[in-house]
Amino acid sequence: MESRKSLFLWVSMIVFILHFKTLSVRGLGVNWGTRASHPLSPNIVVKLMKDNGFDKVKLFEAEPEVLDALRNSGLQVMLGIPNDFLAPLASGVRVAEDWVAKNVSAYVSRGVDIRYVAVGNEPFLKTYKNMFTNATLPALQNIQAALIKAGLGRQVKITVPLNADVYESNSGVPSEGNFRSDIHSLMISIIQFLSDNAAPLTINIYPFLSLYADPHFPIDFAFFAGTNAPVVDGTISYTNVFDANYDTLVWALEKNGFPGMPVIVGEIGWPTDGDQNANLGYARKFNQGLISRIIQGQGTPKRKTPPDVYIFGLIDEDRKSIDPGNFERHWGVFNYDGTVKYRLDLGSNNRTLVSAKGVRYLSRQWCVMAEGASESDPNLADSVKYACTYADCTSLGYGSSCNGLDARGNASYAFNQYFQTFNQQKGTCDFHNLSIVTKIQPTIGMSDCKYEIMIDVGKHEKPRNPVTSMAALGWRLQDLSYSGVVAVILSFIISWVS
Ligand SMILES: *[C@@H]1O[C@H](CO)[C@@H](O)[C@H](O)[C@H]1NC(C)=O
Ligand SMILES: *[C@@H]1O[C@H](CO)[C@@H](O)[C@H](O)[C@H]1NC(C)=O
Ligand SMILES: *[C@@H]1O[C@H](CO)[C@@H](O)[C@H](O)[C@H]1NC(C)=O
Ligand SMILES: *[C@@H]1O[C@H](CO)[C@@H](O)[C@H](O)[C@H]1NC(C)=O
Ligand SMILES: *[C@@H]1O[C@H](CO)[C@@H](O)[C@H](O)[C@H]1NC(C)=O
Repeated sequence: MESRKSLFLWVSMIVFILHFKTLSVRGLGVNWGTRASHPLSPNIVVKLMKDNGFDKVKLFEAEPEVLDALRNSGLQVMLGIPNDFLAPLASGVRVAEDWVAKNVSAYVSRGVDIRYVAVGNEPFLKTYKNMFTNATLPALQNIQAALIKAGLGRQVKITVPLNADVYESNSGVPSEGNFRSDIHSLMISIIQFLSDNAAPLTINIYPFLSLYADPHFPIDFAFFAGTNAPVVDGTISYTNVFDANYDTLVWALEKNGFPGMPVIVGEIGWPTDGDQNANLGYARKFNQGLISRIIQGQGTPKRKTPPDVYIFGLIDEDRKSIDPGNFERHWGVFNYDGTVKYRLDLGSNNRTLVSAKGVRYLSRQWCVMAEGASESDPNLADSVKYACTYADCTSLGYGSSCNGLDARGNASYAFNQYFQTFNQQKGTCDFHNLSIVTKIQPTIGMSDCKYEIMIDVGKHEKPRNPVTSMAALGWRLQDLSYSGVVAVILSFIISWVS
């Protein structure tokens, strides 16, 4: 009897631990942006997300090929609406009904698990100078009405992804948090509307941008490893800017009568290039710290329940605007070709990131500065400038991975980027006779700087089996199987032993 009891205790414990571990990997979301000159095929990307245990994906707009690839994938989708569409949506409920019919209902009925519609993308960002301020709430209301009319009111929730600059704390401590004064009443109306519809608020939090904006920002406060100079707020010592920032919002919500308002972190991450603080080491440190918290189910000092988090982003995007900075094209956890940038431990079973499968590349050849060409050639500067106008040279900039190259290396990098971006076509390595195509891999001697070969988007391996609902079901069962199967086997052993 005694031994049976202790065996039972052991079993419960093991089952609990396994179950907890399985659960803990859940709740990891990722942003999938497609502003790339050579986007990976959507089927490869969906497989990549699943192989790496992401179970939620945020999209910036409704792209048919992307949504089709998500059919019966088991991934939950937050579907975005670009800011430019807010005014039309605000103008009448008919426009919203069309949008929902075409971009939500049509896909839900074909097996896309859309859970949220994200209306606008950081519409109140100060740099937009109130361009979208008036349209956001009416657009939100019209989309909500359209979802209800489509019979999706329960299944699909609305939200608005906002930049963390919609709230602030004058003294810097979270408990002083409140919404920005110029949009205070609008924020309250939006939150009230979301709350009335059991919908969450979505916030994008970027410790990297805090560091980028303020050279005196204490760097260790940006990560999760503790700091010698915490922000003290009453009895709480804040050791990282994420906690402090998130709790500033929680305080602002509480102060305005919404203490239980659910919050989603819609974007968070760290870029790997394009700035002196954007590198593989810092990105790994930040994202590993973040993922470890998610795995442990850790909340913030003010709110113990952890939010759902969508990492930004999945894959680098070489066509993103670099107005915010050169780092903008390097937020991916994966490179442009879906290869892993750095090791991330994903919790259970020693799991780490794995690269995309089935990716095809162009020929192994590069465009470099010709040996006979002179660094003082009068055409060189303009040629480099031309190449970098049409291809991505953000890795050459100050503080970036290829910034230490000499003039020849620089020119070769630029020529090759152009050549690869234009698919190695005839005539794209033709810079006033300063360049030449080579099949011998050029050496660089800088660890994180590479002369790439572009992917061949026309030649991706077709997925062996189209994703079927059986496969999706299998995937879901796989998720449950660990703790479930162990529980069944162990209960069987117990009853047998006793
Ligand atoms: C669906 O979304 C796409 C992408 O944002 C947009 O171009 C299109 O106009 C939308 N369809 C309707 C009917 O609004
Ligand atoms: C927003 O609406 C207010 C009040 O109707 C108006 O004064 C303001 O000009 C509008 N702002 C924009 C950017 O359209
Ligand atoms: C986990 O990975 C480490 C290093 O890669 C290895 O030494 C260890 O044996 C692995 N543990 C398990 C349980 O697979
Ligand atoms: C290399 O190119 C970058 C970007 O065009 C430029 O900032 C840098 O000064 C160049 N370096 C050399 C040595 O030419
Ligand atoms: C490149 O070199 C070839 C042969 O040496 C010459 O005929 C041609 O005019 C050169 N082109 C340019 C743009 O300098």
